[in-house]
Order: sequence, then structure tokens, then C-alpha cells
Amino acid sequence: MVHNKEIESEPRIYSYTRTASAASTHLICIFFTVFIAVLSRPGTSLFSWHPFLMTLAFSLFMTEAILLFSPHGSPMKKFPHKTKGRVHWILQSLCASSAVLGLAAISYNKHLNDKPHFTSWHSLLGLLTVCVVGLQSLAAVPLIYHSLAKGWSLAKLKRYHAASGLVTYLLGSGSLLLGLSSAWFTASVSGYTWYLSALCPTITALVMMNQVTRAYMAKKWLQS
Ligand code: HEM
Repeated sequence: MVHNKEIESEPRIYSYTRTASAASTHLICIFFTVFIAVLSRPGTSLFSWHPFLMTLAFSLFMTEAILLFSPHGSPMKKFPHKTKGRVHWILQSLCASSAVLGLAAISYNKHLNDKPHFTSWHSLLGLLTVCVVGLQSLAAVPLIYHSLAKGWSLAKLKRYHAASGLVTYLLGSGSLLLGLSSAWFTASVSGYTWYLSALCPTITALVMMNQVTRAYMAKKWLQS
């Protein structure tokens, strides 16, 4: 409640700016996913599934899963927190499944072509990212079945989940950026298009950092 009052007493321009930035983030993550899908043409080769599924996982599903808690840009603003939580875990499950399938596609493709595995920074960070997504998903189970984490308050669990979730998101954005630096992508697009593409995961990462740290700071402020 106090938090809402704090938001209401802010100059309106701040609230408009936040709404505009959240709306742009929806557009950017949809645009970026469609762009990579058009470029990779999923289904035309085994490789084509990798950029498509990874972008779907980290640019679309994970961004939307976090953005639905945004006080300014959530498409579910009017829904109870419990419903948002449910849609959040559905989207995150879709993200984890797409990421695992995307990893399987590239690994099997390399195996078929007798190419060595995990030799680039992109592949190493990417592998770490998919492992962290798995751990983050497992660690989120006590948020649904609270009795699994004895001695931990729900508030504390949520705080750790938000902080580690943000780290996971940043790992995903880093892997996307390194994927954009791959020989395949740099050969597929020209100069300006590359910079525009790289801006997409960069902007969404900044918006997510802002949203999660603000929510955390507001709660700290309420507790003090
Ligand atoms: C967060 C998203 C991503 C993750 C977690 C990820 C993960 C990985 C992993 C683990 C590998 C190595 C597989 C192996 O060595 O067996 C790989 C390879 C590759 N990825 Fe991604 N990827 C992501 C996004 C992308 C995107 C968006 C593109 C293209 C725009 C891309 C292009 C490539 C290419 C060309 C390879 C083969 C060359 C290499 O191993 O570096 N990836 N990716």
C-alpha cells in the first residue's frame, strides 16, 4: 500500500517513462525473436533450431515471465499476485524446455558434423546459462511447496529467487550477445543491423535490472 502511495506521489513523467520503457521492452523482445526466426528459418536445418529456440527461451519467454510482475508494463496488472506467479512459472518452464531443446539441437548438430564441443566463449557461457536455468528452476520449487524449505521464510526465499533470477537473466543476455558475435550471425547481417540486434538483449537486460532492483529496494524500504 505504502509502495503505491510512493508511486502516486512521483511526478507523472516518471510513471509515463516507465510505462513507455516497459511497452518498448515487450515490442523489442517480440521483434528480436521474430527477426532471429526469419533469419534462421527454423526447420530448414538442424542448426536453424538453435538460434530460434534460444531466442524464444531467453528473449521472449524469460523476459515476459519477469515483465509480468512490472508495476508499469505488466499485461496482467489487474490480476492477483497468485495468478501472476502461476503464469510466471508456466513461462519459465517453457523457457527451460526451449533452452534444453536448443542446446540439444546444436550439440547433436556438432556431433553429426564431427565438430568439437564447447570451444567458444559463446558455447561455454551458453552451457553455464542452461545449467543455471536448471538450478534456478529447481530452487524455485520451495516457492510453490514451502514445506520443502524448512527454516526459510517465504519473503527470504522470494528475495533470493529474484536476485538469482536476475543473474540468470543476465547470463542469458550475455549468451545471446555472444551468439550474435558468432560467425553464422555476423555473416548473415550487415553492420547497422548487427548493432541494432545487439541493442535488443542489452536494452531488455537494463530494463530487467531496473525492474528487479527497484522491486527489491521498495520492499527493503517498507521493512525499515
Ligand atoms: C541464451 C541463448 C543461447 C545459449 C544458452 C546458447 C548456447 C550454446 C551452446 C552451449 C553452444 C555449444 C554447443 C556445443 O558445443 O555442443 C552453442 C553454439 C552455437 N550457438 Fe548458441 N546459444 C544461445 C543463443 C544463440 C544465438 C542467438 C545464436 C545466433 C544468433 C547462436 C549461435 C550459435 C552458433 C553459431 C553456435 C556454434 C558455434 C559455437 O560453438 O560457438 N546461439 N550455443
